[in-house]
Amino acid sequence: MCGIVGIVGNNNATKILENGLEKLEYRGYDSAGIFVADEANDYLVKSRGRIADLEAKIGEDVQGNIGIGHTRWATHGEPTELNAHPHTSQSGRFVLVHNGVIENYDDLKANFLAEDTFYGETDTEIAVHLVEYFVEQGLTTKAAFQKALKEIHGSYAFGLVDKNDRETIYVAKNKSPLLIGLADGFNVVCSDAMAMLEQTNQFLEINDGEMVIVTKDAVSIEDYAGNQIAREPYTAKIDLADMEKGTYPYYMLKEIDEQPATMRRMIGEYTDENGQVVVEQDLLDSLLASDRIYIVAAGTSNNAGHASKQVIEQLTRIPVEVHLSSEFGYNMPLLSERPFFIYLTQSGETADSRQVLVKTNELGYPSLTVTNVPGSTLSREADYTMLLHAGPEIAVASTKAYTAQIAALTILSKALGEAKEIAEAQDFDLVQELGIAANGMDVMISEKAMIQEIAADYLATTRNAFYIGRAEDYYVSMEVALKLKEISYIQAEGFAAGELKHGTIALVEEGTPVMGIITDPITAPHTRGNLREVESRGAHTLVIVSEELSKSGDQIILPVVHPLLRPLVSVIPGQLIAYYATLERGLDVDKPRNLAKSVTVE
Ligand code: F6R
Repeated sequence: MCGIVGIVGNNNATKILENGLEKLEYRGYDSAGIFVADEANDYLVKSRGRIADLEAKIGEDVQGNIGIGHTRWATHGEPTELNAHPHTSQSGRFVLVHNGVIENYDDLKANFLAEDTFYGETDTEIAVHLVEYFVEQGLTTKAAFQKALKEIHGSYAFGLVDKNDRETIYVAKNKSPLLIGLADGFNVVCSDAMAMLEQTNQFLEINDGEMVIVTKDAVSIEDYAGNQIAREPYTAKIDLADMEKGTYPYYMLKEIDEQPATMRRMIGEYTDENGQVVVEQDLLDSLLASDRIYIVAAGTSNNAGHASKQVIEQLTRIPVEVHLSSEFGYNMPLLSERPFFIYLTQSGETADSRQVLVKTNELGYPSLTVTNVPGSTLSREADYTMLLHAGPEIAVASTKAYTAQIAALTILSKALGEAKEIAEAQDFDLVQELGIAANGMDVMISEKAMIQEIAADYLATTRNAFYIGRAEDYYVSMEVALKLKEISYIQAEGFAAGELKHGTIALVEEGTPVMGIITDPITAPHTRGNLREVESRGAHTLVIVSEELSKSGDQIILPVVHPLLRPLVSVIPGQLIAYYATLERGLDVDKPRNLAKSVTVE
């Protein structure tokens, strides 16, 4: 989604901004731009398309010591150069970048800016005109910015430069992430620490409703009433090397390969030298006091929630409900008496999930965020955090975060179930079973060549495809269908195998790929029966099956793992199938159209 970078006090501003924008590319965007200035000159360069297109337009003369840059994922107005940020005020004096959505932009335009001329269709252009409007009413830039912030409703992270004061960047945030980086002799602004890690690992968090004045050697944080706020920087513990692709052609493949190592790292992070699970006691106490767990998440994280329901319920005996964030906040079901909320979110920034957290916080319900990003918004705003320790996930299609989320909830369930003295939890040897699952993942990952052939055979030209399964296999089907559709653009759906005959089977025609996931001995015969039903109607069927249930002719054989951990292994072939089908179709695996890595608008 949209990204912001800014820098003040460094003569190499252009290069640092370009580099920062490149680091934000993975988040998804469709246009980009930078504003750079020194005392005498200023430059505004914008482009539709990739950062490389923008860089091609940035001439040698575009140099300065202050600047702001932006990658835009279109919300209001098409992804054109005109709508790309930065935007300028009516006279051109103020320059602004913005992430988020201004909800009352029509009212602001009608109430304050009826006489102004606008060149694009963005809500951002209205915000920068508004700042100038208040300056024309006699306010200083700072006061005008503050007044504008009070008038603006919606989500935003802003970076503002006044050409009459080329030593200051004004920033503010509400619901959209923004950080200040403290570098050696200069300061930076970014919506994601990764953008500026080459400059510094010292960052200041900004909270909603705060405005920050950033100069070369000072950072002043205030609330909108002008009260000063003191805050210590934190050290971002991200290894830059983790962000590199190395010898891999795509991040997605690297991240699929990293899954077994992530499992082993999580075992190390969450167990002591005796193999005992270590989870914060306060978190366990809070869960012990609850009568129902509500998992709230979007997309792949939601699928991970479904795939984890069984392990939580079996090991803890606490009922679990899994909900879509975008639905839950506005359509809240009747809650139990003592609910506990778990927010699953790789990025920790998903606006749909955050709006639910804000509501459950207001209602006073306890919450845990399970995330890959320390210090992320959902992590800061929930009562407790469990980290995935998966390393940065750069590919838009989430893979290692999915399996790490299931592992994290398994670890939590083991600790909770033991605390409740549940026999299944006491008998579950977490270190051993997660280790076996990690080995099983390795086995599947080593089958790349075979899976590549299958992807070419089944999915090179098809318009649609189906995954089917029952129970956990159904939840994994939903996830691998999401993987396939989001990067290969094949219309793929995951269905409960038994449901197919109640309607969806009408879509099956000659050659339609239908891939069955079979890991449960009880339902295996039924799913096999469903595969035969579609086969006799022309479907091109594929069987992904646990070794102990396999039959001659089955194509992908899964190593046997603990029944509660089957999704960790059964998801891998589907991830690889999506990857190779996308390569086969000549598409960019890491940057699928229309998608963003971190979805910071509702
Ligand atoms: C799909 C994918 C998305 C995310 C979803 C939630 O591969 O990555 O469906 O899972 O946007 O994101 P997080 O987990 O960051 O809240």
